[in-house]
Amino acid sequence: MNLTDRPRRLRRDGLREMVSETDVDASDLVAPVFVDATTDERVPIESMPGHERVPVSDAVARVEEVLETGVEAVMLFGIPESKDERGTRAWAEDGVVQEATRRVTAETDAYVITDVCLCEYTDHGHCGVLEEGASEGEERLTVKNDETLDLLGKISTSHAEAGADMVAPSGMMDGMVGAIRESLDDAGFSDVPIMSYAAKYESAFYGPFRDAADGAPAFGDRRHYQMDPGNRREALREVRLDVEQGADVLMVKPALPYLDIVRDLREEFDHPVAAYNVSGEYAMLHAASEKGWLNLEEVAMESLVSMKRAGADLILTYFAEDVADRLD
Ligand code: PBG
Repeated sequence: MNLTDRPRRLRRDGLREMVSETDVDASDLVAPVFVDATTDERVPIESMPGHERVPVSDAVARVEEVLETGVEAVMLFGIPESKDERGTRAWAEDGVVQEATRRVTAETDAYVITDVCLCEYTDHGHCGVLEEGASEGEERLTVKNDETLDLLGKISTSHAEAGADMVAPSGMMDGMVGAIRESLDDAGFSDVPIMSYAAKYESAFYGPFRDAADGAPAFGDRRHYQMDPGNRREALREVRLDVEQGADVLMVKPALPYLDIVRDLREEFDHPVAAYNVSGEYAMLHAASEKGWLNLEEVAMESLVSMKRAGADLILTYFAEDVADRLD
């Protein structure tokens, strides 16, 4: 037997690492942080072990914990003290994300990204303003797209005024990136980039997050604005629109079940691609490891490597701190 091509030669100690194609760095990771205006103490999130909702007074401390691990960026989510039909607390100057952003940017070096959406702020839990007369149980309920755009613009500007380094609209409204770009520019924030949740699917993997952020729709679902999990070509169409409207970073969400989409974006566009390793992806690995069925550290790292290998430049993940800690 004369085997000339032996890939195993490259897998020996000392060499394997040198020829490794994919690395996960702490600087690729963004840690989601939940700030809650309804509590004055930290509340553990049951379905996301290790994560908590923290009061505004603890936002700086919470972000400092993240920074200590080597992770440099956070994504802020807010739970407001009250909700209403239009989600008015989402753009309040003294809103929960605005307050937290002001403190965190003043007191730490963290790069602060804010989630821009209405679902945590509306009493019906949808990501925008509802059609007149829409009510519980109504079958044909829709979120009014164009009216919601004005509000997303206001939210983004209020975040930028509070010091946000980047805004990340997640509502899947048509034209959201363009509307936000315009209001940021008009308010003098042409330097603030937009990371668009460009291909966001209507996924059951968001379950734990919706408990954490109290953002589950009170009735109906998000099928008429988030994407159908079976659609691949449509993702490119969605993303192309966001690119035309000025998106700076393109996100795919969820990550693991949609790695083909991450790869498609990598090949089709030159923009940075982000993958959102969502709450359900985190919860399932934790649940299996609690049962002793999987090794948590290893499957977490392998998941993140797969996202980078698929083409993601950055990853939003609840594993950020644990993984960065170990990379250190
Ligand atoms: C808000 C938003 C959601 C997530 C991020 N931003 C929830 C949703 O769309 O229902 C999910 C994140 C996760 O599951 O980790 N629109």
